[in-house]
Amino acid sequence: MNILVTGANGQLGNSVRKIASNYTQHHFLYTDMPEVDITDLQLLEDLVKKENIGAIINCAAFTAVDKAESCEELAAKINVDGPKNLALAAKSVGAKLVHISTDYVFDGKSCLPLKETDPTQPIGVYGKTKRQGEIEVEKTGCDAIVIRTAWLYSEYGNNFVKTMLRLGKERESLNVVYDQVGTPTYATDLAYAIMVLLEKGFKGFNTYHFSNEGVISWFDFTKAIFEIAGLKTKVNAIESFEYPTAAERPAYSVLNKRKIKAEGVNVPYWKDSLVQCIKLLEN
Ligand SMILES: NC(=O)c1ccc[n+]([C@@H]2O[C@H](COP(=O)([O-])OP(=O)(O)OC[C@H]3O[C@@H](n4cnc5c(N)ncnc54)[C@H](OP(=O)(O)O)[C@@H]3O)[C@@H](O)[C@H]2O)c1
Repeated sequence: MNILVTGANGQLGNSVRKIASNYTQHHFLYTDMPEVDITDLQLLEDLVKKENIGAIINCAAFTAVDKAESCEELAAKINVDGPKNLALAAKSVGAKLVHISTDYVFDGKSCLPLKETDPTQPIGVYGKTKRQGEIEVEKTGCDAIVIRTAWLYSEYGNNFVKTMLRLGKERESLNVVYDQVGTPTYATDLAYAIMVLLEKGFKGFNTYHFSNEGVISWFDFTKAIFEIAGLKTKVNAIESFEYPTAAERPAYSVLNKRKIKAEGVNVPYWKDSLVQCIKLLEN
């Protein structure tokens, strides 16, 4: 199968590239801005036809959560029109689409792991645009799956793990919130999950939740990062109001992974994956 990967220079895109050598039966076509802009429908329709694309993995998104609050139009163009265009392009050649969404489609008021069927209620612009993107994909009637993930990190780009490793080396102590709870997701694990679902094949529209296993706060996550990296930096637990951000974050983001596990997807424990990633970063 010819697989088009959009947003291929981001964290998830690079993680798909990393594991692609395990899938030599497929041909991957990696694209990103400025050559392949997912807001350009005509370009996408021409590309999928020319390259005989059988599946699209959309790793492209507007992911700057705070910036989205003041750039709603651009965030919507990329997170709503983008996936809609990809779904239309996929449909035009009978290809499958794997689109990635987020835990930010929920308001964080639950106290039980969130299921795919739970009502969505985004509390910020980023979450609203990502939810609308899911709806637009479904509306096209293309064969598509949406995978909602959370707290994504990897060896690539900017993410919480890399920021903490840098700050941990620079500072003696750090304040980190303990009242936002969720589960980190190692992008390599998500890339494997995507390939399992793609290889099984799917028809119609379906939503899945995927993160790593377990439940922690950002404070716990930071303590673990420092412990694994052998950093002695002191971590102080603070409340969210002590660290104001432009966009409000959901307080509870734990995803229920029962549905994706039933498809044969492996869900590693968050700390095991974190050890792997930090080892790669330190080397
Ligand atoms: N990061 C997280 O914590 C997190 C959590 C939950 C869900 N997610 C979702 O997971 C997915 C992957 O996230 P990620 O962290 O890998 O994102 P990322 O590192 O920000 O990568 C996104 C990529 O998309 C590109 N892009 C932006 N606009 C584009 C456009 N119009 N056309 C084509 N490419 C475009 C970006 O290019 P530029 O860098 O040039 O803009 C970047 O290379 C996204 O759907 C995101 O919403 C992420």
